[in-house]
Amino acid sequence: MSPKALFWIPVAVRFALIAAAGITAWTLWGVTTGALVALLVLTVMVLVQLGYMYQLSLWLDDPDEVRLGDGWGAWTDIFAKLYKLRREEQKNRNELAEWLSRFRQAMSQLPDGVVIMDDVLFLEWCNPVAEQHLGLSLDKDRGMRVTNLIRSPDFIDYIILGRYDEPLTLDTGERRLVVRLIPFENRRQILVSHDVTEFGRLDEMRRDFIANASHELRTPLTVINGFLEIAATEPDLDHDTRMQHLRLMTEQGRRMQHLVEDMLVLTRLESIDFPLREEVIDMHWLIEQIEAEGVALSSGRHQISARIAGPDLKGSTEELRSAIGNLVSNAVRYTPEGGQVTIEWVDTDAGPRCVVSDSGIGIRPEHIARLTERFYRVDKSRSRETQGTGLGLAIVKHVLMRHNAQLEIESELGKGSRFIIQFPRSAVAPSDA
Ligand SMILES: Nc1ncnc2c1ncn2[C@@H]1O[C@H](COP(=O)(O)OP(=O)(O)O)[C@@H](O)[C@H]1O
Ligand SMILES: [Mg+2]
Repeated sequence: MSPKALFWIPVAVRFALIAAAGITAWTLWGVTTGALVALLVLTVMVLVQLGYMYQLSLWLDDPDEVRLGDGWGAWTDIFAKLYKLRREEQKNRNELAEWLSRFRQAMSQLPDGVVIMDDVLFLEWCNPVAEQHLGLSLDKDRGMRVTNLIRSPDFIDYIILGRYDEPLTLDTGERRLVVRLIPFENRRQILVSHDVTEFGRLDEMRRDFIANASHELRTPLTVINGFLEIAATEPDLDHDTRMQHLRLMTEQGRRMQHLVEDMLVLTRLESIDFPLREEVIDMHWLIEQIEAEGVALSSGRHQISARIAGPDLKGSTEELRSAIGNLVSNAVRYTPEGGQVTIEWVDTDAGPRCVVSDSGIGIRPEHIARLTERFYRVDKSRSRETQGTGLGLAIVKHVLMRHNAQLEIESELGKGSRFIIQFPRSAVAPSDA
């Protein structure tokens, strides 16, 4: 039987009851009494129904506090169904709340900013990254128009033009963002912001590097080309001039070679595919080698000495040889004849350190912070004269970064400089003893 039919059975039973009571009273006590009894039974039933309706109305007002009884007749069924509905609704609501909180958590972990707005751009919700990117505050700004909160003219143009299939690059001063508006659900829009500041900086660095490298290579090439042209157009040059031209060309060729070699070293040091190959470095041997190279470079023009008292290290021998060697070669090249250069390898509380000091020309304080930038030189012509590429200290910085070491530079103009490499305690190689 269908549920509808089932519903009508108790109703029919009730009417049968009223009729039965009426007919019984009529046969026993006459028609008037019969009618009165039927009316009385009907009234009682109506009152009982009204009672249940009242209970239901109270429950609907406050389903958490009021309890519905089991009911009687058809009411039992109605109450049971209502309870079931309410249980399901509560379950759905809990699931929804849980889902929403999971969604918010995921959104707040996102590295990109997400802003949800209604169709007229009133802020409904945003994640913490969007607060940082766009200077919003969810608590304060909820319900405000986003175009009043993000006051960049570019952003307002983007909204007005409505060409949302293309992203907009937004410069906020401290950041560069790529933002994009995505309409969804036809009454809402999402704004997504992605921070590309770092990309921009890297891109700029790469462009600068290429521009500088090309410039550095062009100068010696121009010189070589010039002499080659002279050789081609003036066959009658005397032997001495020709020899001098050849010497100058060789010098420029060597300069280009140094430059390319340094650029390759730097590229390799920066590459993630080229991890540090760690070994135990015999520091005594290494410093002596570097000292000997310094002596050769100076060819007797300076007094060079070394003090070796520190422990052996873990790291790359080749890389540290290049880093410390660079400092020593700078010390020799930027120290006039008769000056002193010392290399110290000592242990300190903070860890071992290598100090390369000279009594040379020194560096003005305003240059010191920039010395490790690629191609940065205090005096371009002097650096060229001394075979410098301007990449030496950039290489030093990279090698030290790979060894978790720090570079400190102390210098006084006209008096000399100290380049200090501070290694961490953890870089010391375990001793065999
Ligand atoms: N010991 C030093 N004394 C004075 N100036 C130095 C010294 N070491 C480095 N410099 C300055 O720092 C600049 C950058 O050094 P570096 O990167 O090694 O390039 P370069 O190829 O010119 O030596 C040099 O051009 C020079 O001006
Ligand atoms: Mg150098």
